[in-house]
Amino acid sequence: MNDEKFVEVKNLQKVYDNGHEAIKNVSFSVKKGDLVCLLGPSGCGKTTILNMLAGLLNPTGGDILFDGKSVVNTESKNRQIGYVFQNYALYPHMTVLQNVMFPLTVGKQKMAKDKAKAIAEKYMDLTQITEFAEQKPGQLSGGQQQRVAIARALVQQPKILLMDEPLSNLDARLRLNIREEIRSLVKEVGITTLFVTHDQEEALSIGDKIILFNGGVIQQDDLGQNFYLEPNNYFVANFVGNPVIDNFNIKVKGGKITASDFELNVSDLDQSRFKRELTDGDYILSVRPENILPAEEGHVSAHIEDIELIGRERILKFSHDGVQARSLVNLETPIKPGDDVKLKMRLNRVFIFTPEGERVY
Ligand SMILES: Nc1ncnc2c1ncn2[C@@H]1O[C@H](COP(=O)(O)OP(=O)(O)O)[C@@H](O)[C@H]1O
Ligand SMILES: [Mg+2]
Repeated sequence: MNDEKFVEVKNLQKVYDNGHEAIKNVSFSVKKGDLVCLLGPSGCGKTTILNMLAGLLNPTGGDILFDGKSVVNTESKNRQIGYVFQNYALYPHMTVLQNVMFPLTVGKQKMAKDKAKAIAEKYMDLTQITEFAEQKPGQLSGGQQQRVAIARALVQQPKILLMDEPLSNLDARLRLNIREEIRSLVKEVGITTLFVTHDQEEALSIGDKIILFNGGVIQQDDLGQNFYLEPNNYFVANFVGNPVIDNFNIKVKGGKITASDFELNVSDLDQSRFKRELTDGDYILSVRPENILPAEEGHVSAHIEDIELIGRERILKFSHDGVQARSLVNLETPIKPGDDVKLKMRLNRVFIFTPEGERVY
C-alpha cells in the first residue's frame, strides 16, 4: 500500500526522436483517490506525460511507479489504466453499448457477452447514457460522446483514469456543467484521476491539487489557492487569475522603489514576505486586480480608459507604462470611463519578481 504516492513520477524525461526535449526531469506524486489537474499552455508536455503513464510512449529517462511498483517495463494493456483521449476516439460503426462493452470483449480476460453487457450497463447508467445505448456516436452531441468515452474508460475498473483535455471540444456552458459531473463521477467511483487541461479556471474548480507545467518543467505543484496567494514565479502569477495580474516595471535603489508614476519605500512592504534581500536593480512588481483599488490616497494615478462588466464585478482598465492594467471593483463603485482615480495597492499582497521571473517578495 502506497496511498500517499499511489502514482509516482521520478525524474521523468522525454526527448523525442527529432531531439526535442519535451519533458525535462519531472517529479510528482498523486494520492490515491485524488483528482489532480495537469495544467499548462499548449505544447508544455501534458499529453506526452499522459502517454508515458499509459505506456503508449517510452520515457528516455526516469521512472514511473504505480502503487510503489515501477511500470516502465509493463506493457500498456497491463497497466490498468483508463484513458479518455482528447478526441474521444469512439468506434464510429459501433453503437454506444458496443463501444462501452468493447474493452471487456477483447484480449485475454475476454468475458461472456451477457456478463460484459451487464457491466457496461452499470457504467452507462453512472454516466447517464443508457437512453443512447443503441445509437451510433455520430448521432450524439459532443457532451454525450464524451460520457461514452468515460464509460468505456471505466468498464475495466482501472486503477488510474487519465483524461486529456476532455472538455476542450464542448461549448462554454456545457463545459461548466460537465466538469462538475466529472468530478462527482470520479469521486463516486473513487478512482485516482489525472485530468489534463490548459484552462486554469477548469483546473482550479475541479482539482484536488494542480501541477502547472511550462516548457516541460513543473512550475508549481500545489493546492489551487496557492497559485493565487503564493505563486512560485512570474510565469505562475501570470498564468493563473482572471482578470490577469497587473505587472509594473520598477527600479530599486537605496531602499526606494520607483515606477513610472509611483514611489514606495522597501520598508513599506511586509518584511516577513521577502524570500531574499531586495538588492538594487530592475524588477517587476505584480499585483492582482482585486488588490489594487480606488482610494483617496493611492499609489498609482490611473486614467480609466474602459470598464468591463464580469458578473457582479467590474474591471477598470487603465494604462501604465503603455501597458494595460486592471483594477477589479464591485458593481456599485461610481467610476466611469474617462475618470482619473488614485489606486492603492495592498502591499502585503503584491509580488516582486526579477526580470528572469524569480520571486523575491
Ligand atoms: N512525436 C513527436 N515528435 C517530436 N516532438 C513532439 C512529438 N509529439 C509532441 N512533440 C512536441 O513536444 C512538446 C509537447 O507536446 P505535447 O505533450 O503534445 O504538449 P501538450 O499536450 O501540453 O500540448 C511540443 O512542443 C510538441 O510539439
Ligand atoms: Mg495535448
